[in-house]
Amino acid sequence: GQATKMIRTRPTAYAIFGISLAAAAHAFKPIGFMGPSTRFLHTSMRNVKSLCPKTAAPLRSFKSSRPSLSRVEMSSTVGIDWAKELLSEHPENNVTPYIANLVGRNLHLKKAHPLNIIKKKIEDYFTSRDAEFECKDSLYPVVTKQQCFDDLLIPKDHVSRRPSDTYYLDQDRLLRTHTSAHQTELLRGGSRKFLCTGDVYRRDEIDASHYPAFHQMEGVKILKECTGMEDREQWVKMCSEDLKDHLEGMVDAIFGPVEKRWVDAYFPFTEPSYELEIFYQDKWLEVLGCGVIQQQILDGCEMKDAHGWAFGLGLERLAMVLFDIPDIRLFWTEDERFLKQFKDGVITKFQPFSKYPPCYKDVSFWLPGDWQENNFFELVRNIAGDIVESVELVDKFDNPKKGKTSHCYRINYRAMDRSLTNEEVDKIQEQVRELVAKKLNVELR
Ligand code: DAH
Repeated sequence: GQATKMIRTRPTAYAIFGISLAAAAHAFKPIGFMGPSTRFLHTSMRNVKSLCPKTAAPLRSFKSSRPSLSRVEMSSTVGIDWAKELLSEHPENNVTPYIANLVGRNLHLKKAHPLNIIKKKIEDYFTSRDAEFECKDSLYPVVTKQQCFDDLLIPKDHVSRRPSDTYYLDQDRLLRTHTSAHQTELLRGGSRKFLCTGDVYRRDEIDASHYPAFHQMEGVKILKECTGMEDREQWVKMCSEDLKDHLEGMVDAIFGPVEKRWVDAYFPFTEPSYELEIFYQDKWLEVLGCGVIQQQILDGCEMKDAHGWAFGLGLERLAMVLFDIPDIRLFWTEDERFLKQFKDGVITKFQPFSKYPPCYKDVSFWLPGDWQENNFFELVRNIAGDIVESVELVDKFDNPKKGKTSHCYRINYRAMDRSLTNEEVDKIQEQVRELVAKKLNVELR
């Protein structure tokens, strides 16, 4: 039942930092508090030396033209050349041109885009309830390790910091993996009640519900009435109640009155922590993670007397169920047949446009010693772009004599807007074979 459930801010995959309490209890043992969660089991636990399945695009020198200050709002970064900004030959840079091309698209700011419609609805709920909530949605997506991890008490060996999971620009800077990365800078800047929405980036596998970029909203409130309170039990109780009241109200405002349940959870940055689930379309759906902000975080912001709560939710996940959007890649399409369906301020059901046939191709190879599956997924994505619907491991065997392991992956190709010809897919598949041999050191079979 609940034991293996994780908080999901992504449509179906697991949020990096969340783990429900029951799962945390036995995951605590070997590698810190996160333990081998479902998400991480198919990621190798070995240390990653070098990554970057770089593609053919020219790389830039790694001197950045811009300070990594996410308080620099995007409005002052209009016209920014993201490829130049994000790609470099720095040894720790693992950003790819494919990813650089997604940064700055700002889907959540696009009028009548489903992500924008949801974002506004949530903002409207909070600001009409309490006009002091500030809404931030244009903070610079490059943050420091300090902001994204250290300030939030995420341990040094936490899996989410690994280059196999996160896009690094260099030794200090990365594409934010969650909007929580802005908590401490906004608090230090004096904000006490805010919502902060933005695109976030995580290296991941490829299918209809995983994409290396998605959108989150972070919410924070410092409770005036708790300032200076000595009795921890008392302010924790007040903050938790206020938090639950706001979030239940928000969910009702978005989904209509629904059945809800609170599940104990674990996050490094909150204590206690919870997940909110709602009963929607005959299933329990995880909507968000939240909790009372760890005092150590506020202490670090020179706010020793202050107490408050925080939450984080994934916009695609909500939009997919509310609008009936079946594939996460649709959010990124510029196809009018998608975009024209939505109207500012209203939630309507998506009408799928005609289905085009899929076409799959298999590739088999012996793995090298330093095999990292995410590098393969990314290489496929870089070559084939959005016509890759999914990449699945369909066969696997060990040859004990040779001491080698073989994997066979099935790549499903399908375009959203046309039929692919076998010929063009063959060409792409040939490139995949060539590059996977060359860049990832596999031995093709
Ligand atoms: N940052 C978390 C994630 O990406 C989501 C989250 C959980 C944010 C709990 C919060 C929080 O502020 O209190 O998985």
